[in-house]
Amino acid sequence: STENLEIEFQHKIDQGYNIEPKDWMPEKYRKTHIRQISQHAHSEIVGMLPEGNWITRAPTLRRKVALLAKVQDEAGHGLYLYSATETLGISRDELIEQLHAGKAKYSSIFNYPTLTWADIGAIGWLVDGAAIINQVMLTRTSYGPYARAMVRICKEESFHQRQGYEIMLTLCNGTEVQKQMAQDALSRWWWPSLMMFGPTDAESTHTELSMKWKIKRKSNDELRQQFIDNTVPQAGILGITIPDKDLKWNEKTGHYDFGEIDWEEFWNVVKGNGPCNKQRLDARRSAYEKGAWVREAASQYAEKQRNKEFT
Ligand code: 3HC
Repeated sequence: STENLEIEFQHKIDQGYNIEPKDWMPEKYRKTHIRQISQHAHSEIVGMLPEGNWITRAPTLRRKVALLAKVQDEAGHGLYLYSATETLGISRDELIEQLHAGKAKYSSIFNYPTLTWADIGAIGWLVDGAAIINQVMLTRTSYGPYARAMVRICKEESFHQRQGYEIMLTLCNGTEVQKQMAQDALSRWWWPSLMMFGPTDAESTHTELSMKWKIKRKSNDELRQQFIDNTVPQAGILGITIPDKDLKWNEKTGHYDFGEIDWEEFWNVVKGNGPCNKQRLDARRSAYEKGAWVREAASQYAEKQRNKEFT
């Protein structure tokens, strides 16, 4: 009976086994994975846009090469995660359609503009830094294909974070104007980076089930706190100020206390009213239309190969 299947399934989860595509799984487990992994994939693909904006204007060839490699990695992460989603019985075309129709979410963080070169440093340092905290945790998620995708992605993500921090260090050790650019970028990217971890645990709709099914091994607030504790000392080394007057080390808890996040801004951006939401989806839709000929040529070519085999 389904009840026995569910008991056996939960037992496997509790024993720390991975669930593989061919294993029986509750429909809700399948659905929540299609939701989360596809939104993770959309985040990687949309995330290429704000970063790509600076490839032609990188200050040196070395910075350009590193940024090109990073944006290319994000594309690979997206395709990797779309493949993991397909193991759950949904087509890539359907996933892409959901994104373009505004039905699927992607990380709120990519709806902010990259106004100066320092933003590329702040994104690598803060956005990839936050993504790493979340993704290291996801290397132990219960769904096999997702956990394995994370192992490869985390390796590349640490390069992204290091090159971003090095950009910030270079600017902070540069002229007064350069240091100001780095400060301005930190001021604009700090709070949106905290929002990447999602709503507070009390407000989170999926956390309870995600913890029961070991999709999440740590809650949104736990990961957010870990990110803050890691990052505050790094800002200290850079000599720039985090824009939170309530940020203070708490000897008792061994963590930093921090100010109230603007959840109205968060939900506004998630709902599509952020600074760049329209621009991002327009860019993805137009890239898809412009790329139709490539898909057409690839399927014609594949067709020819198939016919050759049978002639
Ligand atoms: N942006 C957009 N939507 C968000 C969000 C964010 N930052 N945080 C939460 N949400 C959405 C959730 O998707 C959910 O909506 P849904 O039911 O329509 O999907 C709703 O808000 C409630 O949030 P919950 O906390 O209940 O949802 P989750 O349990 O799914 O937790 C999450 C949210 C922590 C983001 C989780 O989905 C997750 O770990 N996702 C995978 C990580 C991911 O997507 N990372 C993207 C980072 S960017 C990146 O990796 C690129 C980097 O390399 C630059």
